[in-house]
Amino acid sequence: MAIEAPSPTPSPTPEALRLPLVAAPMAGLTHSAFRRLVGELGGAAALTSEMLAGTRLLVERPDSPYLRRRPGDGPVIYQLLLRDARRLDEIVDRLRPCHPDGIDLNCACPAGGVRALGGGAALFEDAPRLGGILRELRRLWSGPLSVKIRLGHSPVDGWEQRLRDRLAMLRDHGVDRLTIHPRFAVDRLTRPARPALLPWLCAEAGLPVVANGDIAGPATVAAHPEYYAACSGLMLGRIAVVRPWIFAAWQAGAGWSAPSAAAVWRRAADHIAEDFPAATAARRLRQFTGWYARNFAYGHILAGRVRHLEDLATLRDVAEAFLADDPATVASPPLHDL
Ligand SMILES: Cc1cc2nc3c(=O)[nH]c(=O)nc-3n(C[C@H](O)[C@H](O)[C@H](O)COP(=O)(O)O)c2cc1C
Repeated sequence: MAIEAPSPTPSPTPEALRLPLVAAPMAGLTHSAFRRLVGELGGAAALTSEMLAGTRLLVERPDSPYLRRRPGDGPVIYQLLLRDARRLDEIVDRLRPCHPDGIDLNCACPAGGVRALGGGAALFEDAPRLGGILRELRRLWSGPLSVKIRLGHSPVDGWEQRLRDRLAMLRDHGVDRLTIHPRFAVDRLTRPARPALLPWLCAEAGLPVVANGDIAGPATVAAHPEYYAACSGLMLGRIAVVRPWIFAAWQAGAGWSAPSAAAVWRRAADHIAEDFPAATAARRLRQFTGWYARNFAYGHILAGRVRHLEDLATLRDVAEAFLADDPATVASPPLHDL
């Protein structure tokens, strides 16, 4: 008598894989043209603008590529880069015509220039200044208010207690939600994120936490669903620029077929050309293409060819020539600095 092997019981999909997916704020990249592209491809629960420097925002028109939104974009959260509460009433008023689905305060950016001005990660280190901004922001803005943070400046003795104190402060100031990128500011993007800390961070935060950092796709979460189980969402940064269809692909699961990489690039280029004046459009398309090139086995050739091109039409021609050869794609694009 033949003995049949029992068929394996399919393991249930971890709940963490079903968390809402949010597109991260990325300077120079998550402008209106990119948000339009992701909206068209689908799957993102919300998109975040790039960081918008408070007083610079005062000269932006609501239809500028930093602020503009289209109905198909889905929910858009506007991220502010602030160093104090000066003119915050005017800054928030400038955002109101965009009907933000949330305002986010950047307390995470480790870039030297931003920190030197007292914004981003430096603001997170300065409790009185941060408190002043949050009090005013909460007074002026009754919609969803979130803060994007790292773990602190560096892993010096006592960093856990400093972070605990700061989390309590954010709660006390009426923040509704946090995005936690579990790296220290000194790690920048070079050291790996520490998602194993997320369960502890969620418990300490006492607020919904969106997890961010090195999430390259469902496999990252499936490898350790316990890290993400207490989170309320997942934020995708670099992988979303390389593969703007990641949100749709993630939601659809197996059997989803990726769009043509050339068609997505072309669409991004069209959207950028439509939203930006020519000189800025070339810069933005160059930036996007530098990341997008990572889809391809020989993408460094494309990235190298466009790196110094100032003219939009030439840039498009050069990229189209590369894409016309139907270049081989890679399974896992590199996300680290090249
Ligand atoms: C080019 C670039 C620009 C970024 N700009 C911002 C920004 O404007 N505001 C912000 O909070 N984080 C910014 N970040 C950080 C990302 O939002 C995110 O926290 C980081 O890339 C880690 O997530 P990932 O591993 O999914 O990319 C930027 C990252 C990159 C690579």
